[in-house]
Amino acid sequence: MDTNNKIPITICLGSSCFSRGNRENLEVIKRYIAENNLNARVQFKGQLCSERCNRGPVIWINDVEYQGVSKSSILAILNRAFGL
Ligand code: FES
Repeated sequence: MDTNNKIPITICLGSSCFSRGNRENLEVIKRYIAENNLNARVQFKGQLCSERCNRGPVIWINDVEYQGVSKSSILAILNRAFGL
């Protein structure tokens, strides 16, 4: 598959976002990708603090920014993004 067709997921791994929820969100996303066989459809990467800490934890999917992402909201966000 052409990598340009992959859905980009970027998670902020800066210390604020990481300690306030992205530590867990990272694991949830990794498990979600594996369980749904999405490896070929997703380009998953981390990035450093993007100076949105007060709105964090932040995650970007398909260039849409999700703020205040928690363990309880991440699954709904992923399901919507992947139509699952
Ligand atoms: S740590 Fe995520 S925006 Fe600063």
